[in-house]
Amino acid sequence: MVSEHAAQVLVASNRGPVSYALREDGTLDSKRGGGGLVSGLSAVEDKLWVCAALSDGDREAVRRGASEPGVRMLDVDADVHADAYNGIANSVLWFVHHMIYQTPLEPVFDAEFRRQWASYEAYNRAFAQALAEEAGEGAAVLVQDYHLSLVPGILRELRPDLRIGHFSHTPWAPVDYFRLLPDDIGEQLLKGILGADRAAFLTRRWADAFIACCTEILGGTGRTRIGVHGLGADADFLRRRSREADVDERMEILREQVGADRRTIVRVDRTELSKNIVRGLHSYRALLEEHPEWRERVVHIAFAYPSRQDLAVYRDYTAEVQRVADRINADFGTESWAPVLLQVDDDFARSLAAYRLADVALVNPIRDGMNLVAKEVPVVSDNGCALVLSREAGAYEELGEDAIVVNPYDVSATATALHEALTMDPDERGARSKRLAAAATALPPQRWFLDQLDALRG
Ligand code: F6P
Repeated sequence: MVSEHAAQVLVASNRGPVSYALREDGTLDSKRGGGGLVSGLSAVEDKLWVCAALSDGDREAVRRGASEPGVRMLDVDADVHADAYNGIANSVLWFVHHMIYQTPLEPVFDAEFRRQWASYEAYNRAFAQALAEEAGEGAAVLVQDYHLSLVPGILRELRPDLRIGHFSHTPWAPVDYFRLLPDDIGEQLLKGILGADRAAFLTRRWADAFIACCTEILGGTGRTRIGVHGLGADADFLRRRSREADVDERMEILREQVGADRRTIVRVDRTELSKNIVRGLHSYRALLEEHPEWRERVVHIAFAYPSRQDLAVYRDYTAEVQRVADRINADFGTESWAPVLLQVDDDFARSLAAYRLADVALVNPIRDGMNLVAKEVPVVSDNGCALVLSREAGAYEELGEDAIVVNPYDVSATATALHEALTMDPDERGARSKRLAAAATALPPQRWFLDQLDALRG
């Protein structure tokens, strides 16, 4: 049944714009999230965001009817959600699209995988049913990411009148790698997304990889249109927010920690397997070995915030980041110099402070849908920064010309790139940084979202 207050624009994503935590006294604390989708959507009125309850706090909020207007949280059974999110989305689909399996031993598609896949189907069905209930006649529904690949196909069956878009925020795997998936699962995923009127990606490269998979496996993309929308940084927000008092305070603290007259190499990431933080640290170590003149004269500020800690492989990776950073500090540090400043507690104001201080930004992912840090640092940095950028980040498509580009697996070449970045002529660095900031902000989040809506309705 279509609800009475049917929405005309609906967005569906696993993680919603708000989350809840249960306080000791039994009341609920709500927290708003950030990111491209949140600011993109702020441009649209009369919208509904359908998302999953991710924690006990979220589930309690649903039970108490506490969730805010414009948001519908789905209380999918916690075990079903865990299998779909941790088991399939994060441990299979994320690994396929980022090509991060250690293939001699994994993946293994067995009975346990099939059990989790049934949960992924159930969770996608729950989203499709909620969207079918909430959408007004002919409404536009924008489905986000690899968590919800099957939603467009199921929703199309339930509501043929809707305009359905799907957007992938990740890379898309090349066909040979995509074919690691069992054949029927690969087909089901592609057909699920092709249930949309339009499937869109962050770069041409990911769109082409999707088309290649559809062509080889299904013989084509059918009636689905394919689009590219390269999400940019939100210049107005970043420039304003990065000049607020809490950021100034953190800059003072960071300056003290770095020490006078030292240069900074800055990275800010979720501690995510695909971000390549460990090789980044190895590269920094190689810089200190190959160019001893930098000892005492540079600090690597590495902010690595916790992510997906339910998965053992993420916990192990987090520990390895800490171990490698500690090793560098033990081997090279002196009484007055800690070569690496690794901080793992999430603090947005401190990230902005680091952006402002950055002489060099290090963005070296193995593979990344876009990578907004690469786009944000040049916009915020006080004196212009040099960007060392992986050619496997989506941002490379727009920023490659003015960045120092690296193969993310090549630690020696990345060390050389860091040296080049640190020694770049200041005028050259300033000019490049300006061009990087202009390219990075070409498509602000609100325009990015409205373009998709226009294209879907057009
Ligand atoms: O990179 C794709 C993406 O969906 C991002 O938008 C988001 O940061 C992440 O993956 C999902 O993270 P999480 O598992 O913490 O929701």
